[in-house]
Amino acid sequence: MTEERYITVALAKGRLAKKSMELFAKMGIDCEEMNDPGTRKLIFANEEKKMRFFLAKANDVPTYVEYGAADIGIVGKDTIMEEGRSLYEVIDLGFGKCRMCVCGPKSAKQLLKNREQIRVATKYPNIAKTYFNNKKHQTVELIKLNGSIELAPIVGLSEVIVDIVETGSTLRENGLDVLEEICPLSARMVVNRVSMKMENERISRIIREMKELL
Ligand code: PRP
Repeated sequence: MTEERYITVALAKGRLAKKSMELFAKMGIDCEEMNDPGTRKLIFANEEKKMRFFLAKANDVPTYVEYGAADIGIVGKDTIMEEGRSLYEVIDLGFGKCRMCVCGPKSAKQLLKNREQIRVATKYPNIAKTYFNNKKHQTVELIKLNGSIELAPIVGLSEVIVDIVETGSTLRENGLDVLEEICPLSARMVVNRVSMKMENERISRIIREMKELL
């Protein structure tokens, strides 16, 4: 008899991972070791259920899943859109809710309206490019940043930003506003295309049981 292989799950480090593990725990799949705050281990197994979990940078989760190094991934819709990988998106988990928006000072509203060639700072150049080119038919200059995006319009690096807005407090505290909404976001479960066929029974069960918890 061939031994059952592990189903591997890649989780985006941070809040999403914590929420996801709570859901798996409710399904009777947990990894004690993962709750040890001092651990530097990167991968955790539940031997009984033949499942393993690892934590990765959010941007890398779609990569692990597309290549089949993970069968399943849990990651934000923002990252899925930005990475544009070939995956099945199977569940909207409903947590990690926020919005992708064009933000800036109120004065930039006119620049958007007039379709001027503005500079757009963002951690999400693909999402920003698709939005401005395909939806708005506006040519913009994209400036890739890696964090604290709200700084860009304040110090004159760009006219607007494309970024995630959750509570809106970062914008408020920096005198910026939402100028246009691009799309709503939340955590999603994604599945590798081959795994979906080869491990259909086990993966379908995980999807079904997880949906029942939402
Ligand atoms: C995100 C995002 C905004 C902020 C929005 O940044 O880029 O800056 O959260 O949240 P709010 O609407 O609740 O204020 P994050 O904290 O992930 O850090 P970063 O700036 O390094 O990307």
